[in-house]
Amino acid sequence: MYPTSVHPLLPQPTDLDPPAPTPAHPLAVLGGDVRVRVTDGRLLPYANLDVAATAPCAAVAAEAVARLLPTYASVHRGAGALSRHCTRAYEQARATVARYVGCRAGDQVVFTRNSTDALNLLAHAVPRGADVLTFVGEHHANLLPWRRAIRLPLPGTPDDAVAAVDRALRRHGPALVAVTATSNVTGEVWPVAEIARVARRYGARVVVDAAQLAAHGPVSLAALGADYVVLSGHKLYAPFGAGVLAGRADWLDDAEPYLRGGGATRHVDADATVQWTGGPARHEAGTPNLVGAVALAAVCAALTETCWAGLARHEQRLLDRLDAGLAGVAGVQRLALFGPGHPRTGIVSFVVAGLESAEVARRLADDHGIGVRDGLFCAHPLTRHLLAAVPAAATPAAPPTTAVRVSIGAGTTVEHVDRLVAALAQIAARPGGRCTQSFGAR
Ligand code: ALA
Repeated sequence: MYPTSVHPLLPQPTDLDPPAPTPAHPLAVLGGDVRVRVTDGRLLPYANLDVAATAPCAAVAAEAVARLLPTYASVHRGAGALSRHCTRAYEQARATVARYVGCRAGDQVVFTRNSTDALNLLAHAVPRGADVLTFVGEHHANLLPWRRAIRLPLPGTPDDAVAAVDRALRRHGPALVAVTATSNVTGEVWPVAEIARVARRYGARVVVDAAQLAAHGPVSLAALGADYVVLSGHKLYAPFGAGVLAGRADWLDDAEPYLRGGGATRHVDADATVQWTGGPARHEAGTPNLVGAVALAAVCAALTETCWAGLARHEQRLLDRLDAGLAGVAGVQRLALFGPGHPRTGIVSFVVAGLESAEVARRLADDHGIGVRDGLFCAHPLTRHLLAAVPAAATPAAPPTTAVRVSIGAGTTVEHVDRLVAALAQIAARPGGRCTQSFGAR
């Protein structure tokens, strides 16, 4: 439908492919050389331990953007050579992402702003009258958009989660099951494939919120057994502003456009009667985020099996070190839904006896050059549930109302983890102090 040939003077398709990552750096990221001044005047390398909120930008994403910017022009709107080139780059990015998430025949990739936007788009496309089954502990992005939601209480074990979905589907009939792959609060892995197997027995569909999983392992519609998957570029080592809804096209093609405007239309009459187009363009009105899509695709292309194997080794080593370190800090009480032995990704949330979480986060930042998140992590019901389960004896001064979250990924180093553990030991040994400004309470 769109002209996509490339002018001979412009970068050829292979030039758009990212360079192969080197074995020493399975996924090199920017920012490792950033230094921040701490309260005693020292300049310290910034330890970004808030990767779950926003991952640092991968070098391949930055390189792809740098290569693209000189050829910057309109997308899907121009006959000029640069417009055709940019249109081609945009659709090539879509194809790369589709391959990465394992799109099947009948699936499509819609570029959105982020996972929240992608889940809102799907909520908009759910046929009228269809129920959406979810757990009350979901991240707000997967809790708030659904119109006819049946919200299941938090399960005590993964088996309880699967059984609860089974019971609810038996009672309510086919629905869309909306479930997160790994928690942004605890890092715990949810039994998504098992839930999807149950859902299929009842003819229900499944959408997997892979916003957190995406930064820690491959995302595959087939492996998850999912009908839809959503992810955010800024959590997958790409810059802000591009996310993805991938999955079955039928509900999306039947739905009213998510955004009404140019690019989503086939024909518009003088009285503004519209024939809308089908396919991803139906929900992508307005000039699309070419740079975001190309950057995200560059990361997806770099995340080969070998790259993931390297990242998994790196992360596990750091997570083991973090676990061992935190276990040795008196006063640190960790939060977990499924218990300490349950598989999880590189996220740990905890409270420190006698200290407000905002104060812990502030001291880590100001005195040690370490960035973490504190608050309720846009998952208020889950975090409050976990905080309520902290034994009173563990926090004798007052029950905690918020937590501290540490999250790791590519770019995290052993020195970051060791500095965090040493800093926490120091902070926990000298409680007191009160910080009233939480930067992450949302
Ligand atoms: N959802 C992001 C987080 O967990 C912002 O921090």
